[in-house]
Amino acid sequence: MEEAEEIFKEFKEHSVAEFFKKNRQMLGYSGKIRSLTTVIHEYVTNALDACEEAGILPELEVTITQLGNDHYRITSKDNGPGIPKKHMGKVFAQMLAGTKFHRFIQQRGQQGIGCTGCTMFAQITSGKPTHVETNTGKGKTYIADIMIDVKRNSATINNEKEIESPERGTKIIAEYKNIAFTRGDYGAGEYIRRTAIANPHAKIIFKDPNNQRFVYERAVSVLPARPTPGKPHPKGLDVDDLVSYAHSSQERTLKTFLVKSFDRMSGAKAGELEKKTGLDFKRKPGSINWEEAEKIVAAIKETSFLAPSTKELKPMKEKQIREAILNVLDPEFYSIKSRAPATYRGGVPFIIEVGLAYGGNSGKKANGDTRTEIMRFANRTPLLFDSGSCVITKVVNELDWKRYKLKDLENIPLSIIVNMTSTYIPYTSAGKTAISNESDVYREVQLAIMECARDIKRYLSGKRKKHERRTRKQTLVRYVPEISRALEDLTGKKKSDLELKFMEIINKKYGDISLNGEEPKEEEHKPMQEDRRLQGIEAAQEDLKKMQEEQEAKENEDLED
Ligand SMILES: Nc1ncnc2c1ncn2[C@@H]1O[C@H](COP(=O)(O)OP(=O)(O)OP(=O)(O)O)[C@@H](O)[C@H]1O
Ligand SMILES: [Mg+2]
Repeated sequence: MEEAEEIFKEFKEHSVAEFFKKNRQMLGYSGKIRSLTTVIHEYVTNALDACEEAGILPELEVTITQLGNDHYRITSKDNGPGIPKKHMGKVFAQMLAGTKFHRFIQQRGQQGIGCTGCTMFAQITSGKPTHVETNTGKGKTYIADIMIDVKRNSATINNEKEIESPERGTKIIAEYKNIAFTRGDYGAGEYIRRTAIANPHAKIIFKDPNNQRFVYERAVSVLPARPTPGKPHPKGLDVDDLVSYAHSSQERTLKTFLVKSFDRMSGAKAGELEKKTGLDFKRKPGSINWEEAEKIVAAIKETSFLAPSTKELKPMKEKQIREAILNVLDPEFYSIKSRAPATYRGGVPFIIEVGLAYGGNSGKKANGDTRTEIMRFANRTPLLFDSGSCVITKVVNELDWKRYKLKDLENIPLSIIVNMTSTYIPYTSAGKTAISNESDVYREVQLAIMECARDIKRYLSGKRKKHERRTRKQTLVRYVPEISRALEDLTGKKKSDLELKFMEIINKKYGDISLNGEEPKEEEHKPMQEDRRLQGIEAAQEDLKKMQEEQEAKENEDLED
């Protein structure tokens, strides 16, 4: 007894903020480069979410200023809806507080930790508060310096003031130490570039610590369709959820609670559950206990429901992916596939979209080589870190690329773009940089990549055939002058006429192949037979001219030698 008393002298409660202060790596604050990118990620996702929810075309400005060794000031400015004064403390200095966690809605943020995580990280590395200016569009800007009282998981607000200003939006300025900026793959610049790729409706200005300014202009001036809140699907429900939903419900009966709270729960389905469980569904929802909730969940497992509705999912869509790919990668060939909506864990709907781009600026360039690069996105947010533990990387690594004539991924100019859209992304941790390996997600990513890879294979084998035909044509053309000269001697016919005849014959068979690899552009209309014949002669004459020029050049060279 005595011992227990002794040990439990140390027994203390701690707040969620204390927990994350100690375990900051869970929020993405590990390593200097990653820490900086995490801050940018939190501010940018919040700004985009806020703008889109308010129906505003986003305009973001992110500035990173170096103040010393591993010491930076980060400024993030948006034209979003602003934050009401009374919520400021909770937004910036209370963990697990936000507008998104309790809703089934497709947004970038979900936990209500990101923003406060930044305030805390700034404070524990630089000792400084986070300066915020926000304006909800009513002519006043509210300004404050906010710190977090870690023990209490609540805000300490200083230097509050309000000024007249017409400009709506939010500006955040914070100082960080022990972070670092890099131009590389894991840096804030790459993060912003990828954000621009996946969000062509946003204008983003980025100033890096070297005073370089990047402007990503808006490529599409319509907002993506606004996601609407959905309802949880009964199949994804566990007992604890059901109890807590039921206990906070205002509905009069258990039946109306079930029908109104869950997706695909019709009156008839609720009736079925009532029969299966033998419970009285006219009771108040708040009156159910754990055992009763267990019965309901067990009955749900035995009941068939329509698949979750997916109308609340707003994927990027093929047109935007295409624009992004053409704009940034300018590939030789690309393929885009969007899978039909599916669900994981029995109830959470999601959509996988994949774009494969080959050639051009595709792939990752390093030391003169080009390698395959994987660009992972979740609800249009780039995922830069923890690629090894992400289901997308796993699929790419485990795919049998040889089947698609893409043998050596290390040396192929290929960009693999994958976007998962969902009302709840199953991240592997609160740092939100990798998607966990849910078997349903794995399968969808795999199928989409395979569909695209098949297109690339078709393209590459067509290209190889063309290459073989070109080599054959080049060989034949090379012999034309010699044979014509010999025939001139034998028959007395003019060499140039003979050459033209030969070229015509060659072009009849290989007219679609150019000698130098520049394929003729495809015509929109099919030429008439006579046109084709004339075009064939023209092509032959042109090839002949090229050949003669080359020959002349070669002879000149020989002479010079
Ligand atoms: N720039 C902004 N403009 C308007 N509202 C904002 C802005 N930034 C944050 N908010 C509000 O503050 C809340 C808390 O933001 P925070 O980043 O901490 O959590 P979250 O975005 O809900 O989830 P996550 O932890 O996944 O990022 C948001 O839910 C949103 O309501
Ligand atoms: Mg957030």
